Amino acid sequence: MTDNELFLPRAAIPNTPRQAPAWAKKSPPKSKAATRSKITAQKYLAPRDPHEHARKIAENVIDAWHQSYGGSSIDIPLGTVAALALLRQPPGTGNGLADWILQRQPHELPQLFKEIYLGHWIKRPDLINRALRLHDWAWNPNPDPQQLRAVQAVTHRAVNQGLLDLTGHDDPYLRAETDVLSPLLTGLRHKSDKKWRGEYHTPACVTDLLANMLVDKNFAQPDLAIREPAIGSGTMFRSVAQRLRDLGLNPRDYHWYGNDIDALAAACAAVNTIIWDLGPNAFIGCADSLTTEDGGYAKTLAEANESFAQRDRYMDTATSTAASRRAFRLLDDLIANKGTAVA
Ligand SMILES: C[S@@+](CC[C@H](N)C(=O)[O-])C[C@H]1O[C@@H](n2cnc3c(N)ncnc32)[C@H](O)[C@@H]1O
Repeated sequence: MTDNELFLPRAAIPNTPRQAPAWAKKSPPKSKAATRSKITAQKYLAPRDPHEHARKIAENVIDAWHQSYGGSSIDIPLGTVAALALLRQPPGTGNGLADWILQRQPHELPQLFKEIYLGHWIKRPDLINRALRLHDWAWNPNPDPQQLRAVQAVTHRAVNQGLLDLTGHDDPYLRAETDVLSPLLTGLRHKSDKKWRGEYHTPACVTDLLANMLVDKNFAQPDLAIREPAIGSGTMFRSVAQRLRDLGLNPRDYHWYGNDIDALAAACAAVNTIIWDLGPNAFIGCADSLTTEDGGYAKTLAEANESFAQRDRYMDTATSTAASRRAFRLLDDLIANKGTAVA
């Protein structure tokens, strides 16, 4: 596999020119339809602490995945929750989005997730390419029906436990109150795997304390580069971003570079970078920080540039294909109308 292929999500190869995904264009149906089919978001008791809430969601998702015999591919429940966490609840729709998701049949879910990832790929192809491990499975043309039922069970559990209440906000400050992927990634990893990888994330109370101690108005000069050579799912970045916001500063004005040797951890950090809105100068790499001179920074930037260039090429092709289809349709109409006029 070449580098190009590696960073080419299948999402990026439209067979036909496609417009913005349907979910991005229209509000999901209101709860009325959901009430009819009796599948509506359940009332749950949300823990006051967002980190506790995220842990509870993770426990429920892990339970649902194992109870439904989902198998050992932890990228599937992780990718499911990550996709749902990338959705925004249109204001004023109440539980409409949750109800609409809960009504999807198992076979409809991969398509929904592909559209969510594709919608974000258009803005940040580098981050969605980095998150490939989280959505690659959704492109399988012959998915295992049992696995799809497990994906549905995970979706129901995450939504019913209030995932969208943590991540569906328009305001990035509210979306960044916790890291929903951290307890899931560490909880899904097998014990021995976790030990071998050192996949133990720093508790949020510790990263918050560190950020509060290290980042003040003087320290936080715009253009500053914040680097994390073993980022995990990005918990440290989250605390720094919130600290900046608390100081009245905007994380989008800073440079962020996170790296992890593990592709799944880097994938989670890439999705979190979008959820937490770290901005246009936030990049996530996947390399060994100890053996690369600059922690893989130059390679990550080159890969990001290639992702953007590739996205632009696809968009150009899609736009010109759409234009020529429109022209052919017009020509057909013209010929048909002329035929009618002659007759
Ligand atoms: C202990 S966790 C820390 C994660 C995060 N920094 C935190 O505080 O929550 C360790 C992470 O470091 C990553 N890691 C271990 N060795 C690495 C290396 N040589 N280069 C890059 N990442 C590495 C692991 O994959 C894992 O995600």
